[in-house]
Amino acid sequence: SIDALDDPVPPTHRTQDRRRPTGEPAHRDGFENVPDTDPAIAANRSWALDVLRRVPRSQLGAQTIRGAKVSDRSTLERIVARTAQAGVNWGRQDPSDRAELLDLIAHELETRRADLIEVMAAETGKTLGEADTEVSEAIDSAHHYAESARRLATLDGDGARYVPPRLTVVVPPWNFPVAIPAGGVLAALAAGSGVVLKPAPEAKRCGALLADVLWDAGVPHSLLQLVDLDENELGRDLIAHPAVDRIILTGSADTARSFRWWRAGLPLTAETSGKNAIVVTPSADLDLAVQDIVQSAFGHAGQKCSAASLVILVGSVGESERFRRQLVDATRTLRVAWPDDPTAQMGPVITEPQGKLRAGLTELGPGESWLVQPVPLDDSGRLWSPGIRDGVRPGSDFHQTEYFGPVLGITRAETLDQALAIQNGTDYGLTAGIHSLDADEVADWIAGVQAGNLYVNRGITGAIVRRQPFGGWKRSAVGTGTKAGGPMYVATLGRWEPLPRTV
Ligand code: SER
Repeated sequence: SIDALDDPVPPTHRTQDRRRPTGEPAHRDGFENVPDTDPAIAANRSWALDVLRRVPRSQLGAQTIRGAKVSDRSTLERIVARTAQAGVNWGRQDPSDRAELLDLIAHELETRRADLIEVMAAETGKTLGEADTEVSEAIDSAHHYAESARRLATLDGDGARYVPPRLTVVVPPWNFPVAIPAGGVLAALAAGSGVVLKPAPEAKRCGALLADVLWDAGVPHSLLQLVDLDENELGRDLIAHPAVDRIILTGSADTARSFRWWRAGLPLTAETSGKNAIVVTPSADLDLAVQDIVQSAFGHAGQKCSAASLVILVGSVGESERFRRQLVDATRTLRVAWPDDPTAQMGPVITEPQGKLRAGLTELGPGESWLVQPVPLDDSGRLWSPGIRDGVRPGSDFHQTEYFGPVLGITRAETLDQALAIQNGTDYGLTAGIHSLDADEVADWIAGVQAGNLYVNRGITGAIVRRQPFGGWKRSAVGTGTKAGGPMYVATLGRWEPLPRTV
């Protein structure tokens, strides 16, 4: 019932919005992003310490798995048939009923914030701050997609009829193990679809706890099914199943390509890899640039498709001793620790680095040198200090490869045009940033840069729902091209059929 919305928010969650600079108005349409937990409030600090104390022994998620282990084709068929049928019934309901359920989910997510942070830290090594923001994003998605559902009703009738997907399969990554699956599932529910959620193998407990929160909020089990399924033939059968009307994938460009290979004409909405750079021009506020570069490169140990992997220094910035020293100091003083340590600013990588990430952390390319050399900090192999390599050459491996770890490259350009050519000179186009206080320079950059999410004088990770709808260009996206957290996302998950003409 809607009465649940009147419950007070637990006092320890009382927060201030640190993500919106003082004086900046809320969204013009009145939408408010929920605030993160503010560590300046003493009660929040003791709440956070309680959460982190539970992390090393946490069994959350493991205890709540109520989803199906899919081990054969007949289980898969049963799940698909049941969820698609529930989806058909759900899609016939008034969109405002769907919106009401999403509002209840937002409330339940806030109530379970501590549990969600605990399981993210325990299972994937997220620091408290990164995990807290992720819960906020999930709640924002619930509010935003509730509005999208209400809006669908107003779009209907404009010469076309909206047909919801019967069944949507959501395939999230491990690096945002709550916000990204929540975004996909909630958008699909808003669209009027049944949902099968297949969490990443590295983040099954996070997926299980999220599903639990959604069921507790009132989502019927028949409508949302959690599956434990390896990426084997059964995974392929699920993706290729003709009853699946939409796939929402966040993962690598290679995974998106496999999915399309498995089913011709796959209705796929995919957010994929990135190789993202920040340009710094001589007009920049260098103090701010350093802060944003470090946060964008090393937040969640660089394991974000949106992360800054390259900095392109224009003209005199490339020679600035002050900039170099500040960047090195800010990187060296980052506190790297396991997430049960409340002072951790950067946590571990998800598994011991192998392959390209190991090479990125240990092997220099021609002409490159370590400005800060990354080193393993304990025997686990997972905790690395962050690294910066100087002298990255355009066209080199480092310029082209997504490493997905705590290593940043520096390269130089004589002009902004040259910097843009380097920034655009990869297969990807997810996020891009510039630090410049020159309005003409910024306008030229915006006109020339090829990426879905552009950030001026701000870090390039942590897109905020509605404020920065998220999506890429080039190999960073596959599908409709609409952005998650934006106005048309839900409307593009279903089909639009022309209304019959009447006389
Ligand atoms: N939405 C995340 C970010 O902006 C990436 O998936 O960092």
